[in-house]
Amino acid sequence: MTRPATMTALEKSRPEPGLWRIEAPVPEIGPDDVLIRVRKTGICGTDVHIWNWDDWAAHTVPVPMITGHEFAGEIVEIGRDVTGLAVGQRCSGEGHLIGTDSRQSRAGRFHLDPGTRGIGVNVQGAFAEYLALPAFNVVPLPDDIPDEIGAILDPLGNAVHTALSFDLLGEDVLITGAGPIGIMAAAVCRHAGARHVVITDINPDRLALAAQVVPTARCVDAGREDLRDVIADLGLKQGFDVGLEMSGSQAALDQMVEALVMGGKIALLGIPPGVSPVDWSRIVFKAITIKGVYGREMFETWYKMIAMLQNGLDVSRVITHRFPAADFAKGFAAMASGRSGKVVLDWAA
Ligand SMILES: NC(=O)c1ccc[n+]([C@@H]2O[C@H](COP(=O)([O-])OP(=O)(O)OC[C@H]3O[C@@H](n4cnc5c(N)ncnc54)[C@H](O)[C@@H]3O)[C@@H](O)[C@H]2O)c1
Ligand SMILES: [Zn+2]
Repeated sequence: MTRPATMTALEKSRPEPGLWRIEAPVPEIGPDDVLIRVRKTGICGTDVHIWNWDDWAAHTVPVPMITGHEFAGEIVEIGRDVTGLAVGQRCSGEGHLIGTDSRQSRAGRFHLDPGTRGIGVNVQGAFAEYLALPAFNVVPLPDDIPDEIGAILDPLGNAVHTALSFDLLGEDVLITGAGPIGIMAAAVCRHAGARHVVITDINPDRLALAAQVVPTARCVDAGREDLRDVIADLGLKQGFDVGLEMSGSQAALDQMVEALVMGGKIALLGIPPGVSPVDWSRIVFKAITIKGVYGREMFETWYKMIAMLQNGLDVSRVITHRFPAADFAKGFAAMASGRSGKVVLDWAA
């Protein structure tokens, strides 16, 4: 292609709240990289932290930084040494950039590389017309997966990675937190053969969205309903076999521990703000297994989620708002309202 000299991008230009629409140089690519023409991007909670410039962002994100890490687009340029990819290939991609020297990477557990850097957080990101990405991180999109679903594969991948942490077939699952990721996890649990899927939140709008996206899940307002009543109502003998914590709330984790069976399993994705106290003795006496979950497995999570999407997993209704990229401020306002599911920006409009 004849590459333009500059592109539109959303940048954290100054260490204060906000993002700014700028003209930036189109990134150069190295021999192992591709250049992607971005079509759609998802706004993540992480992007909202960066917009707000909270303590985490101020300590983590160097300025200036083009933000964004959830994207779908099309390859428009390939580096000299790239094989197996071609110009014109539609793709999404893993936004965690890893090294190959660590013990974990050399064992093939790339998602555990301690040197991981995130696009849109530590290196220039995807809220732009063009994105340079290592070819290794590219995930080709089959024709039957549209761009807007491609743009939310990163958070769907969080949901899939967490949900598939433990055997789900015939199991009763409790999900705390009906944000976009919790809701998508509920859909994944259903697809993967769980018997009962219960999802909690304290925000009625989020519970209403969960009920729309996953009509077969039981949606519970944790502020009003007691999980013991739900357990009795469902006819569970002791409680839930598997818990997926997706709220970051200490109260939710406490409720989950109480609602689990002896020997139950918990996968923790939600990130509590700061230090939060845990009643460890309850966890020990219940012999509960806890697994922390970070990111997506490279690339088994991607493989599984694309296969599930092609086999009937439908998360499309979790996308509640769509805006042209120029209206990004409206997208961030929708996210801040707490009334949205996923918000997608269109870079081709
Ligand atoms: N570990 C990782 O790699 C990783 C990656 C992405 C996101 N996350 C975390 O995963 C979590 C889910 O992400 P998201 O984008 O869906 O977040 P979100 O903030 O949109 O959703 C969290 C939901 O939890 C609800 N909640 C709050 N207190 C609750 C309680 N006591 N009981 C039940 N629900 C409660 C909120 O109302 C909200 O709807 C967040 O904590 C996020 O930081 C972790
Ligand atoms: Zn994200």
